[in-house]
Amino acid sequence: MNSTGTTGGKANAGVEATGFEAASAAPEHGIIAGPDSVTPIVLRAMAGGEARLNELMTALVRHLHAFVEETGLTEDEYQRGLGFLAAIGHATGPTKNEAVLLGDILGVSTLVTLQNNAREESATASAVLGPFWRKNAPRMPLGGNIARGDTPGVPLEVNGRVTDAAGKPLAGVDVDVWQASPVGFYENQDPRQPPMNLRGLFTTDADGRFHFKTVRPAGYPVPTDGPCGDLLRAQNRHPYRPAHLHFMLSAPGYRTLVTQVFADDAEGLNRDVVFAVLRSLVGRFEETTNANGEREARLNYDFVMEPGEQSFPIPPIP
Ligand code: BEZ
Ligand code: FE
Repeated sequence: MNSTGTTGGKANAGVEATGFEAASAAPEHGIIAGPDSVTPIVLRAMAGGEARLNELMTALVRHLHAFVEETGLTEDEYQRGLGFLAAIGHATGPTKNEAVLLGDILGVSTLVTLQNNAREESATASAVLGPFWRKNAPRMPLGGNIARGDTPGVPLEVNGRVTDAAGKPLAGVDVDVWQASPVGFYENQDPRQPPMNLRGLFTTDADGRFHFKTVRPAGYPVPTDGPCGDLLRAQNRHPYRPAHLHFMLSAPGYRTLVTQVFADDAEGLNRDVVFAVLRSLVGRFEETTNANGEREARLNYDFVMEPGEQSFPIPPIP
């Protein structure tokens, strides 16, 4: 026996390398007697640690174990499920975030988003960030065009005003905008588009207003070349999102508002694969024909921010 209470040099070396205390110092939680004893014993083993982590892990284990029992999960299904999770990790890299996509197509992202935002009824609803937001979109003057280079499509002018819940205009709010092209690709998915195409950062004026030019976005399928695509196919689900613009509004002293505005004439508003469409987020895309017979569109959409913390999400891609 040595000073750490273990026997033999080898065991000691192992204990030192892990940074954990010796096994003999850990609380006992019991010996498994059969399937019914697994959950209470696992919960007992997880009784320590930081309080919120403990709460989250305890609930997660309870629900996971209940899922295994309710479905009678087989060993083969369990192996396939683990393989799926590993594939999600392998498919995630610098230009693609399959983990974010999984949360989105399961409706978890929308649930978390709605549960944590727009606490005041008049505040603009939030919508999922999605896997395509990039930090450092080019800062542009009001009225600038985010369709860079040659991006054929129906010209769209967007006008908006940002206020608080009492209607006070909010000046100096950063309005970060990103969208898919008229053929349904984000710039990072499409080598034909210039870098940062259809992305821009504007700042509201003294009256809380902003405006910019772009082209009408198209609806598009979420990426289907990875495990999430396999899951959608296996479930006989479609992969489509209705046409929308993404907005992230931020200012010191206000909760950062991440949302999307959907075109009222978009196909599939009531079958979004990521469940992000709320009625209040459908904007009127007013189309007219100009003197040359060409289509043009306008969107007026106002935003209401809530007081709170200005914070930014972890960018899903660089
Ligand atoms: C998006 O709107 O960019 C998006 C959201 C969720 C999943 C895929 C794409
Ligand atoms: Fe999108």
